[in-house]
Amino acid sequence: RRITVLVSGSGSNLQALIDALNTPALPNAHIVLVLSNRKAAYGLTRAQQATPPISTAYLALQPFLKNNPGKTREDYDAEVAKIVVKTNPDVVVLAGWMHIMSEAFLDILNGDRPFEDQSRVERPIPVINLHPALPGAFDGAHAIERAYEAFQKGEIKHSGAMVHRVVREVDRGQPIIVREVEIKEGETIEAFEERLHEVEWEIIVQATAKVLDEVAPCSAI
Ligand code: GRF
Repeated sequence: RRITVLVSGSGSNLQALIDALNTPALPNAHIVLVLSNRKAAYGLTRAQQATPPISTAYLALQPFLKNNPGKTREDYDAEVAKIVVKTNPDVVVLAGWMHIMSEAFLDILNGDRPFEDQSRVERPIPVINLHPALPGAFDGAHAIERAYEAFQKGEIKHSGAMVHRVVREVDRGQPIIVREVEIKEGETIEAFEERLHEVEWEIIVQATAKVLDEVAPCSAI
């Protein structure tokens, strides 16, 4: 079963996936490509240092626009989709991918738009995303900080993390796994963030395994 992972940063969630490969948590699975939109993303290094090393690719928006006059952000997203589709994945995991995809990306992954000439994907490729908040809460960037501030103001008692299917509305797709994370009285944001990340590392693996079992059931006992 083939997993393609998109990262932008440190890649600790990618690491959780790498560590779960060939264990009961994620049996019979390979990460076929780690793609980053930031050259300095440590996630690329983690992939290269994995045993065996995982293929990496890097495509950033601004250089793409500069080197391809007349092309748009939508063209960039279509190019990302083309790279992804060519890895023939069973699931695409956005693990800290800090770039909101335009419709072009999902249309190509869904088979509604060709990725090249007249070629389309034969069946929709599921795309899942990790979000460090509960469904419907703190969509978009800085969700952890915003949840922590809301707790300080007495507006919420806990936050959480989820992995959800990617749809056009940011962070609004159907949740696959949701976990509440309590914010403790007097806790620093760093301590809360650390506990929340640990939950993310668990649910990214669980959700990836769940989606893989739907699209490409594991035959291993
Ligand atoms: C995670 O907290 C994720 O929820 C957010 O970005 C962070 C990525 O961390 N969208 P890492 O790059 O996997 O370490």
